[in-house]
Amino acid sequence: MNELFRTLLNLPEQASSVALRIDVLHYVVIAVSMLGATGVAVAVAVLLFRFRRRPGGHPPVSRGHVPLWAEVTMIGGLLTLFLAFWAVGFRQFVTLQTPPANSMPIYVVAKQWMWTFAYPDGSATTDDLYVPVGRPVKLVMTSRDVIHSFFVPDFRIKQDVLPARTTTAWFEATRAGPHDILCAEYCGLEHSRMRGRVIALSDDDWARWADSRATPAAHDLATMGARVASERGCLRCHTVDGTPHLGPTWAQLYGSTIVLTSGDRIKVDEAYLTESMMDPALKLRAGFAPIMPTYQGLIQGVDVAALVEYIRSLADRPLELDPPPAAPLPPKPIPTRAP
Ligand code: CUA
Repeated sequence: MNELFRTLLNLPEQASSVALRIDVLHYVVIAVSMLGATGVAVAVAVLLFRFRRRPGGHPPVSRGHVPLWAEVTMIGGLLTLFLAFWAVGFRQFVTLQTPPANSMPIYVVAKQWMWTFAYPDGSATTDDLYVPVGRPVKLVMTSRDVIHSFFVPDFRIKQDVLPARTTTAWFEATRAGPHDILCAEYCGLEHSRMRGRVIALSDDDWARWADSRATPAAHDLATMGARVASERGCLRCHTVDGTPHLGPTWAQLYGSTIVLTSGDRIKVDEAYLTESMMDPALKLRAGFAPIMPTYQGLIQGVDVAALVEYIRSLADRPLELDPPPAAPLPPKPIPTRAP
């Protein structure tokens, strides 16, 4: 049945864990619309014939009226259908917006006209995104120039990629092999050629691929992040062990819920961290002064990804709530001047 509808509607293969569910809703909506349209066409044909102009007389005039039960059934039925489509679609939307907790993060930077991908192990690829089959992958995406849109038809996922902002999408590939990535937002002359591929690999191939990329020089993304943090001066205001300072500590920050100056609560995730680097005053945490400068345009995609990964790696770090008392300073020798 699925294959029949898929062929009729000319849809690509279903290669992600959500693809079939999305297609089934698609099939039902199309089938109901076709049945409805056919019903209306038949009614028009019957009424045209029944009330046609006859020679030498007026057309018959209908004196009947639609009984109440028929009206209630029709309106109620349409309303129920609409609500049912909406409820199922809303659940699918929520699923697509909620990456599973064990997802592997991959950082995506779009620019005219290419895709770059940074992996947790610190390596990067262009246009080809390598992922393991059967494991959820969370894409943390941003753009260096204009709006693009990350679209993988085989996975039935599509998400806009915006400059100065982070959007996320997730998928779990269920079939190995290459799957096309298209840009689905007009972004300039070469938009139609801004293509890539998701290369979904079986467990063995994935392990081999990951090994082939491990070089002695490669550091994982979190280690890179620690270096970026000290080079960029982040650690002058942020501590990594819970000690209070000018900015919020990074220990146990990721995944926590914080209160903003507006009184709103927000969960600290990749999107919030990236946004706070680019526009620190937008969602300022309560209890902190708006003194952080923007890093918009100053740090590049991979460094941002590395910082976020570093902060994420500090999520389980124990807080130094009771620092040992500082050792008393030794008495300063009084400088003596030679007479
Ligand atoms: Cu990028 Cu269209």
